[in-house]
Amino acid sequence: MENLISLVNKIQRACTALGDHGEESALPTLWDSLPAIAVVGGQSSGKSSVLESIVGKDFLPRGAGIVTRRPLVLQLHKIDEGKEYAEFMHLPRKKFTDFVVNLTLVDLPGLTKVAIEGQPESIVQDIENMVRAFIEKPNCIILAISPANQDLATSDAIKISREVDPKGERTFGVLTKIDLMDKGTNAVDILEGKAYKLQFPWIGVVNRSQADINKSVDMIAARRREREYFQNSPEYSHLASRMGSEHLGKMLSKHLESVIKSRIPGLQSLVSKTIIDLEAELSRLGKPIAADAGGKLYTIMEICRAFDQNFKEHLDGVRPGGDKI
Ligand code: GDP
Ligand code: NA
Ligand code: MG
Repeated sequence: MENLISLVNKIQRACTALGDHGEESALPTLWDSLPAIAVVGGQSSGKSSVLESIVGKDFLPRGAGIVTRRPLVLQLHKIDEGKEYAEFMHLPRKKFTDFVVNLTLVDLPGLTKVAIEGQPESIVQDIENMVRAFIEKPNCIILAISPANQDLATSDAIKISREVDPKGERTFGVLTKIDLMDKGTNAVDILEGKAYKLQFPWIGVVNRSQADINKSVDMIAARRREREYFQNSPEYSHLASRMGSEHLGKMLSKHLESVIKSRIPGLQSLVSKTIIDLEAELSRLGKPIAADAGGKLYTIMEICRAFDQNFKEHLDGVRPGGDKI
């Protein structure tokens, strides 16, 4: 994860430098198209809870009746001093520190079936359209949230994610509320992929209940309990190593790494080309160039060179057999 974060930061720095330079460079566009992770599902299915446990903090509006009416875009940055913070679009001045991942996470509004008192009739379709517009972007990694205490055949998350990602190449099926299933039933068939097969294996989670939240059960305690839940249930113990929020976080990191790695060659050739262009421009300017203009180009070129060198090192690390990025 550290390697991934540092690589992403380098890409971002190079993109910023090239953006400043005002070149017609595709790098900033490539950066923008790096993945975002969005949670999709019915209202109260556990979307905000899943996002929270990935990040390991309490920060999203959450509760039985709360409707998130617009997507909340959470950007997790790593700032230069090595401190991480997240900034919400809906809370622009509030910073959240101590995160361990460097991602854009999006809490989408919950899909609904009927307009309730005071809502316009169009709300059901409006929300669905907004969610679809977001998750149909190919750079969106979808966390499709289905609650285990409802029939999977009625899952809004599965329905809409299958529509936009029929091959399941960017969809992770997350089954929440496993602890709330009817006595005598269990989710083994789903979690083993027998009820509904997904490209990536299903991940079951046990988030905090409303009672836990009212009692202020913290995230660390909640994760420990979740781990114990899977390890100690006779039905799930054989699946325990690939269940839970921590495992989900790891799977997402791995997927992100592979997405980013797949873009390295494209980024690298763009950077190389930019270096050549800058060298040409500098030599055309000749020796007696204005200090600021020449200096700035020179700085950008240095950043690109450093970046190019870094790519080479990273690529050495990702040759077959190596899992470094
Ligand atoms: P959202 O509307 O999809 O964002 O759902 P929330 O994350 O706000 O969760 C709705 C309610 O369900 C909250 O009261 C949560 O505490 C509760 N909840 C979510 N996931 C679980 C779970 O795995 N187990 C239990 N017992 N409660 C959960
Ligand atoms: Na809710
Ligand atoms: Mg929510």
